[in-house]
Amino acid sequence: MSYKNSHDACSNLTAEQDSDFTQMIERGVSRRGFMAGMGALGIGAFIGLSPISQSVQAATKGVSSKLMGFRPIPASTADAVVVPEGYKVSNLISWGDPIFKGAPEFDPSGKAPASAQAQQFGDNTDGMSLFPISEDRAVMAINNEYTNNDLLFDHKGENMTADDVLKAQNAHGVSVFEIQKTAKGWAVDRAGKLNRRITANTPMQLTGPAAGHDLLKTAADASGTEVLGTFNNCANGETPWGTYLTCEENFHNYFGTADESYAVPAEQKRYGIKPEDKRYQWSKFDERFDLAKNPNEPNRHGWVVEIDPMDPESKPLKRTALGRFKHENAALMIDNSGHAVVYLGDDERGEHFYKFVSKGKYDASNKAANRNLLEEGTLYVAKFEAADGELKGKGQWLELTFGKNGLTAENGFNNQAEILIHTRLAATQVGATTMDRPEWVAVHPNKMSACCTLTNNKHRGKKDNQPVGGPNPRTGNKYGQIVRWTPVNGDHTAAEFEWDLYVVAGNPSVHKDGLNAGSNNITAENMFNSPDGLGFDKAGRLWIMTDGKYSNKDEFAGMGNNQMLCGDPETGEIHRFLAGPIAAEVTGLAFSPDYKTMFVGIQHPGEKGKPSHFPGGGDSKPRSTVVMVTREDGGVIGA
Ligand code: FEO
Ligand code: CA
Ligand code: CA
Repeated sequence: MSYKNSHDACSNLTAEQDSDFTQMIERGVSRRGFMAGMGALGIGAFIGLSPISQSVQAATKGVSSKLMGFRPIPASTADAVVVPEGYKVSNLISWGDPIFKGAPEFDPSGKAPASAQAQQFGDNTDGMSLFPISEDRAVMAINNEYTNNDLLFDHKGENMTADDVLKAQNAHGVSVFEIQKTAKGWAVDRAGKLNRRITANTPMQLTGPAAGHDLLKTAADASGTEVLGTFNNCANGETPWGTYLTCEENFHNYFGTADESYAVPAEQKRYGIKPEDKRYQWSKFDERFDLAKNPNEPNRHGWVVEIDPMDPESKPLKRTALGRFKHENAALMIDNSGHAVVYLGDDERGEHFYKFVSKGKYDASNKAANRNLLEEGTLYVAKFEAADGELKGKGQWLELTFGKNGLTAENGFNNQAEILIHTRLAATQVGATTMDRPEWVAVHPNKMSACCTLTNNKHRGKKDNQPVGGPNPRTGNKYGQIVRWTPVNGDHTAAEFEWDLYVVAGNPSVHKDGLNAGSNNITAENMFNSPDGLGFDKAGRLWIMTDGKYSNKDEFAGMGNNQMLCGDPETGEIHRFLAGPIAAEVTGLAFSPDYKTMFVGIQHPGEKGKPSHFPGGGDSKPRSTVVMVTREDGGVIGA
């Protein structure tokens, strides 16, 4: 979803920016504090160069990282996906494209019925994973995060009907479909046997320690285990046993009630539940979303859902052991100890950052035995520590287990189920660090470190519970940063870690010094704001996607449209690889097994009436689209 509260008008300013060499040198020298900070994790190649020599190198050679073989692109304000010289872009699928044989084609009028949307790719593409079937066939699972009334309906949401609500519900969820490699590249196979739409109405099962708790029971489901649907599916994860993880983020926006006597419980207020339902209006036509009639329905959303993409009949499983909050993604890795470790961000200002460790261990020789690894385990929340002004430090994982760390009946927690349903309250109880909106997490392929985007936070330093410091070092954080941590002894199940900031985004053309100029690896050439999507490829390139202000004006001048950058975790170097079209967010990343095709999500082009006609051009309706980036010489992306 877009940079919250963004009302900036898009502009057609050029991307030309001041790259005055003297200023770069001055800024480099004045930001030596960052260099000390970045040495904490032993990134020797980066600290081995003085800021001045780095500036010289950037100005004369461009890219010095051995990981990157492309020529970086300038910031863009074009209504197009822009990639480096020698690369090309094509479209895989757009909102409304059929994913079944015989399904209706996209109708831009806004009058198409719910039944059509049920057979088409959902709206606002987000996290995605590719699961290979053979060398030239794979199944894609792609989140469809939310809908935009202005584009979905001819009446722009002003005259909703029951079928409109169903249409919106059908545009949410997950699209699963087969793709095949042809002479022209990868393409959707509408006849694929695994093709499936998972929507806000697909039957699912609540599993794990909270399943069956009274707080999960509703009039329609006395068992507290049978739930319909998933929605606001933000980012994702995947498991080595071949399943897809879809993460329920801003679920609170879908509930409401016209009953003025209904009082939202304090626990649900913490999650943003409120009686007003102006945006989606589902509660007016679907009782399940009426808080007065189904007060527990919100508790059945906000989970990580595990889906088997190879079995279209399988029931998605909501894994309550991973906690309930506004889940961004689920970065799962198998620790050297054999436990599955899942890093999880809760994307809201001043919320927290989590880790799940499975009770059982992964058995590579027996895939089926791993199917329930996410059923049972321990959830932790992060507490970061740092000396005043330091941009590195230590941290601890605080256990969220009933009976420990004050999670007792005296403090309002009666059992583990309540801790998992009200995870945010438990995190506050144990003293977790309030963060600058944790978005995606990515684990380096060598398993030695991991990163999380902290996208921005206007409340930092302004609300009492969100003091400036540690990994959240800026008042009113406009630009965002990426925190990186290494677990003690390389053990991701350990209770302690060390952290630093891989990058502090900023604008060195507008701010000549200080944290808003950005860390030393930010220049006038690569600057961006609001890092959000994040992923490593097999070689260890860190791909950074942005969901920020695209005004290209004032404090954001020179950044252009939202974009994708490539980072070298060893040297700290960052270069712009791709720029999105007007008023779009770049979110969602997958690679073909040979890493020669990169799949990238372009979400909400033309949001809020901005002048985008991507991807159709002319005066066409803008449509969220998954694009494919390839090299003209057929090589590995980024190399
Ligand atoms: Fe759906 Fe936090 O982004
Ligand atoms: Ca996001
Ligand atoms: Ca975001």
